[in-house]
Amino acid sequence: MAREDRPGDPGANLPSVLVVHGPNLNLLGEREPEVYGRTTLKDIDEHLIALGLELGLAVETFQSNSEGAIVDRIQAARGKIHALIINPAAYTHTSVAIRDVILAIGAPCIEVHLSNVYKREPMRHHSTIADIVVGRIMGFGAESYTLALRAAARITSGATRA
Ligand code: DQA
Repeated sequence: MAREDRPGDPGANLPSVLVVHGPNLNLLGEREPEVYGRTTLKDIDEHLIALGLELGLAVETFQSNSEGAIVDRIQAARGKIHALIINPAAYTHTSVAIRDVILAIGAPCIEVHLSNVYKREPMRHHSTIADIVVGRIMGFGAESYTLALRAAARITSGATRA
């Protein structure tokens, strides 16, 4: 739903950031905690929404295990968001459809990973979106998202990038 459609929403009229989480990230906290940490996705999302308000951003979050649902959600954000933060999870390494929809909406995008994919299996070293995002943040666990949101705040405020 568009920001404009939410009268009374504390995030209304703020620059809007959509955070998208890919497959299996709904299991954060339980799934391979030695790799992904013990923070749950609910905790991450709540923290991002609260931090967004501190930074002057309206944050919406979305998780799906389905590539098509992720494409649909990003398409729905076309013309409505100022930045996209995405952890495509396993689709990072395979999805042309997610690359194409990021190009289609034209909003600046930040790629996030909890783990440092370069310390892991070679199949995780390729990203279909690495060359079309503003930047990539990985290896800091749940804090990767926090760092990405701070970067999104800079981007949406028009701050210059290095
Ligand atoms: C991940 C890394 C991916 O390789 C993996 O498939 C994930 C999570 C990360 O956040 O570290 O599901 O994107």
